[in-house]
Amino acid sequence: MSSRETNRQTTGNGNRPLAMVTGASTGIGYELAVYCAKEGFDLLVVADQPEIHEAAAQFRNYGVEAEAVEADLATLDGVDKFYQAANGRPVGALLANAGHGLGGAFLDQDFRDVQHVIDTNITGTVYLIQKVGRDMRAQGQGRILITGSIAGFTPGTYNAVYNASKAFIDSFSFALRAELKDSGVTVTCLMPGATETEFFERAGMEDTKIGQSDKDDPVDVAKVGYEAMMNGEGDVVSGFKNKVMTTVASVTPAGVLAEQHRKKAKPGSASD
Ligand SMILES: NC(=O)c1ccc[n+]([C@@H]2O[C@H](COP(=O)([O-])OP(=O)(O)OC[C@H]3O[C@@H](n4cnc5c(N)ncnc54)[C@H](OP(=O)(O)O)[C@@H]3O)[C@@H](O)[C@H]2O)c1
Repeated sequence: MSSRETNRQTTGNGNRPLAMVTGASTGIGYELAVYCAKEGFDLLVVADQPEIHEAAAQFRNYGVEAEAVEADLATLDGVDKFYQAANGRPVGALLANAGHGLGGAFLDQDFRDVQHVIDTNITGTVYLIQKVGRDMRAQGQGRILITGSIAGFTPGTYNAVYNASKAFIDSFSFALRAELKDSGVTVTCLMPGATETEFFERAGMEDTKIGQSDKDDPVDVAKVGYEAMMNGEGDVVSGFKNKVMTTVASVTPAGVLAEQHRKKAKPGSASD
């Protein structure tokens, strides 16, 4: 029996294992949840807005249980609310995906918006992973998929805090994976490139070159991430051009990367 089958049989309530997916109302998280449902996971999903309930209804169409929680994962209370909704049921997979960007010049940003990026992308994410990760370590199995980004390879001129948050997440993911080696718990970092979701609108980046560029399909990105998670891979960059970009970025000086990022993320650059 494969480790994947073992994981399925022993972590579920009844016949199905449970997957917790954050940021499942739209975009990559929605598609990740669809993959989990199609593959027979029950779902516990969360987002900050009421749309998460509609998403959960869609997931139930795949014949699994899906419960929605409305909570702001930028707060520890919000993370606690989501964690407690599992009611102690063993978690087979945690897909820590929720996150958002913030375009524009750092000194001109409202600090509350800056803090919300950090609190969502970093603090809430690692707090949830610590809570669920401890349970998984105790049960001797589990899969954790963390949505990082290829943005973590590049200083994000005009998206400075976001890119830095993803550098944190990419790095954190690799380190946690190494710490959990031989524990039965795998950690996988999904690093997408620009993907066609609500991300750029929400970050106020629609007037930028990157905001107007051709982007990857979130269905494809989620497929790559889901499969890498189930295979227990360490990291996966979705898309060939993104793979090339990360390879080049790893041998390019940070100052050069920051200048390149300016061209594609500067407010108004879409019309340059
Ligand atoms: N799109 C890209 O180009 C791209 C590239 C690389 C990595 N990523 C990463 O992929 C992940 C998903 O983003 P996406 O592109 O799918 O964007 P999206 O369509 O805007 O989806 C973001 C999801 O996260 C939720 N969310 C955000 N902040 C939250 C909070 N504080 N509390 C609870 N839920 C929250 C949103 O729900 P609410 O609307 O209810 O807040 C939504 O469900 C993010 O971590 C992002 O950084 C995206």
